[in-house]
Amino acid sequence: YRDTAAEEKMNPFAEQEAWEEHQIGKATLKYGSKNKKQASDDYQFVFEDQIDFIKASVMDGDNVDYDEEMADSFEKSKAKSALEALLDERKKLPIYPYRDELLKAVEEHQVLVIVGETGSGKTTQIPQYLHEAGYTKRGMIACTQPRRVAAMSVAARVSQEMGVKLGHEVGYSIRFEDCTSEKTMLKYMTDGMLLREFLGEPDLASYSVVMVDEAHERTLSTDILFGLVKDISRFRPDLKLLISSATLDAEKFSDYFDSAPIFKIPGRRYPVEINFTKAPEADYLDAAIVTALQIHVTQPPGDILVFLTGQEEIETAEEILKHRTRGLGTKIAELMICPIYANLPTELQSKIFEPTPEGARKVVLATNIAETSLTIDGIKYVIDPGFCKMKSYNPRTGMESLLVTPISKASAMQRAGRSGRTGPGKCFRLYTAYNYHNDLDDNTVPEIQRTNLANVVLTLKSLGIHDLLHFDFMDPPPAEALLKALELLFALSALNKLGELTKVGRRMAEFPLDPMLSKMIVASEKYKCSEDIIAIAAMLSVGNSIFYRPKDKQVHADNARMNFHTGNVGDHVALMKVYNSWKESNYSTQWCYENYIQVRSMKRARDIRDQLAGLLERVEIELTSNSSDLDAIKKSITSGFFPHSARLQKNGSYRTVKHPQTVHIHPSSGLSQVLPRWVVYHELVLTTKEYMRQVTELKPEWLVEIAPHYYQLKDVEDPISKKMPRGEGRAQSDR
Ligand code: CDP
Ligand code: MG
Repeated sequence: YRDTAAEEKMNPFAEQEAWEEHQIGKATLKYGSKNKKQASDDYQFVFEDQIDFIKASVMDGDNVDYDEEMADSFEKSKAKSALEALLDERKKLPIYPYRDELLKAVEEHQVLVIVGETGSGKTTQIPQYLHEAGYTKRGMIACTQPRRVAAMSVAARVSQEMGVKLGHEVGYSIRFEDCTSEKTMLKYMTDGMLLREFLGEPDLASYSVVMVDEAHERTLSTDILFGLVKDISRFRPDLKLLISSATLDAEKFSDYFDSAPIFKIPGRRYPVEINFTKAPEADYLDAAIVTALQIHVTQPPGDILVFLTGQEEIETAEEILKHRTRGLGTKIAELMICPIYANLPTELQSKIFEPTPEGARKVVLATNIAETSLTIDGIKYVIDPGFCKMKSYNPRTGMESLLVTPISKASAMQRAGRSGRTGPGKCFRLYTAYNYHNDLDDNTVPEIQRTNLANVVLTLKSLGIHDLLHFDFMDPPPAEALLKALELLFALSALNKLGELTKVGRRMAEFPLDPMLSKMIVASEKYKCSEDIIAIAAMLSVGNSIFYRPKDKQVHADNARMNFHTGNVGDHVALMKVYNSWKESNYSTQWCYENYIQVRSMKRARDIRDQLAGLLERVEIELTSNSSDLDAIKKSITSGFFPHSARLQKNGSYRTVKHPQTVHIHPSSGLSQVLPRWVVYHELVLTTKEYMRQVTELKPEWLVEIAPHYYQLKDVEDPISKKMPRGEGRAQSDR
C-alpha cells in the first residue's frame, strides 16, 4: 500500500542539485615531499581528486559499511583506557598525518595561514602539537575563538586529551570568566579577550604563539586582532602567528599578511546530496520540524542537525518536537533532542557530544554556532532553513538591531558540509534552488561593516592608536560608522575635541563593557552609588534570563516579578532590588525558587558584580551605596544612556529624542502599563515592533544637566506641558 499523493505532500523536496563542484567534498590533498608543488619559496598545497572517494550512497541500507566501521572502532577503543582511546582518536583526525610538516612550516615561517575544514583537528590539535614541539617553553599559546561556548568546550576537550585538569595546563578565558592558572600553557580564549589583553600587555610578551582561529568568521574582534597582531609580529620576530580558517578563500588572509604561505589540510569529505524545496516555505520553523520528523521515520540511521536562529526558536522547536514524538509513542525509535546555543548552561552543552545510543537518533537544534566552530560527530542529515540572526547597524541613527536575515551562499555550503563528515550526507534546504542562486549573497558581510564601533574605537584609542582612518583593516568599516563611534565617545566625554582619550575615557576602557555601560559606572562616583550601579550593570550583562516564567505558573511568576517594581521604580532599579534581596537572603537558592528567579543567572551576576568591584578599585572609584536615593541612581544611568532617551506620544508610543524614531516599551517591562512621559532605555529590540528593553523614568531636565553638549533645552521642552500644568498631561492623552 502506497499513498503516493500523501507521499508527494510529505516530501516537498522535489528539486535536487548536485553538490557544488568547487566544494571540498571530493578532493583530498596529496601531501608529501614528492607531490609538493613549490611556488616561489612558499608552501603551496594542491587538492587532488580523492582516491577513496566514496560514491553517493544515499539509498536505504547503503550505509552499512560505514556503520560497521564505526561500531568496530568503538569496540576496540572501549577496551583501552580513556586516555589511550583519546590518543587513538587524535591519530585518526585528518590533520594527524601532516603533524610534522605543519610543525616544520611553523618553524620556517613567522606567519602561516592554515586551512582545513571543520572537524579536521585544527583547534584541538595544533596547539597541542606546538606544545609537544616545545613552543610553550617560551610562552603561552593563545588560540582565539569567536564564541564563548567554543572556547570553553574546546579547552575542556583538550584538557581531557592531555589528561590534565581544566584550568591547569589547559585553560580558557572568556569575558567575566578566567579559567586559567600559573600553570596554563594552552589558553583558549574569545577573540574579544585577546583584544583586551593588549591593553595590559601591548606586545603580548607572555605568548610564544598566537593562533587566530575561525578567522573566516570575520568577527569584529578578529578583524581588529588581525591589525594588531600583524603589527606586533614586525617587532617580535620570535612570535609565531597562525591564522586558521575553515573556508577556502585563504588567499585574502595570505595577501593581508604580506603573502604568508597557506597550509592546506585535506578534508575527508563525503558527498552530500542537496535538496531544495519546490516552493518557498511560509513557516520555516514548522517546515524544519516536519522535515526532522520525516527524516527520523523514513531515513537510515544518522543524526540530524537543524540550523535555527536563536534560543527562543530552539526552545520552541524542542517543545514541539517533544510533543509530536510523544504522540507517536513507541511507534518510532527514540529521538534525542539536543539544543545548543551560546547561552546554554555549560552542564547541558556536553550532551551534544555524547554518542547516540544504539537504535536512537539524535537531533541537534543549533544556532550558527554549529556552522563551523563546533564539530558534532555522527551528523548525517542537515536541515537548513536558510536564516541566521545577524547584527545590523544604521550609522545614521546609531541604532543597532539583531535581525533574522537570509544566510549567504558560503554559509549554506558550510551548513550542508556538516552532514558529510563521517559518511555520505543529505542536506535539506528549506528554500528553493531559485532562491539560492538569485537571492543569497555569496559571502556574509564582515561584522566590522555592520556594527556599532564605539567599543572598538575606545579600545584602539586606549592602545594609543590615534589615526583610525588609516588603521590596517582587512576590510575597512564605513567611514560614517567610525565617525558615529567617535561622536558617541565624545558625547560620553571619553574623548576630547581633538579625539584624544580623556581621564573618563581611560577609566571607561578598563571595563569590558559597552561604552555606555562603562560610562554609567564611571559616573556613579559623582552620585555616590557605585555599589548599586555595578549590581545593575552586572544584572544587565547577564541578559534576559533573570526571571523564570514557567508556562503553568505564569500568574505567580508575574506577581513575583511585579513585587520588585513596587513604586514604578523602573526596570534598572527593579534589577538592583532583585540583586539586593538575593544578597540579603544570603544568596539563597530557595529564595530564587520562591521568587521565580533563575539561580544560575544570579550566580553569574554575582560573579560579574565582584569583578566589576575589582575594576572599580583599579580605577580608584570608591565602593559606595546610595540605594535609597533613586534619583542619584537614575542620574548615573542617564549619564551613560542619555543618547537612549525617548518621549511619550499621544498614542502611547514613544519617540526617541535624537534621531526621532517610533518605539514602544517592551511588554516585559515594569513600566509597560505606566507609560512615563520621559524614559531612558538600555537597548532596542526589534520583534513585531521596535521595543525598548529595560526602561527607567527620567526627568527631562536631567538630559540638559548631564549632557549639555548633546541636548539643548529645545530638545526637551515638552509640548504637552506647555499647554497644561505638569502631571495632567498623561491623563489627557488618548491611550
Ligand atoms: O578546529 P577543527 O574544526 O578543525 O576541528 P576540532 O575542533 O579540533 O575537532 C577535532 C575533533 O575533536 C572533532 O572531530 C571532534 O570529534 C573532537 N571534539 C570533541 O569531541 N569535543 C569538542 N569540544 C571539540 C572537538
Ligand atoms: Mg575549529
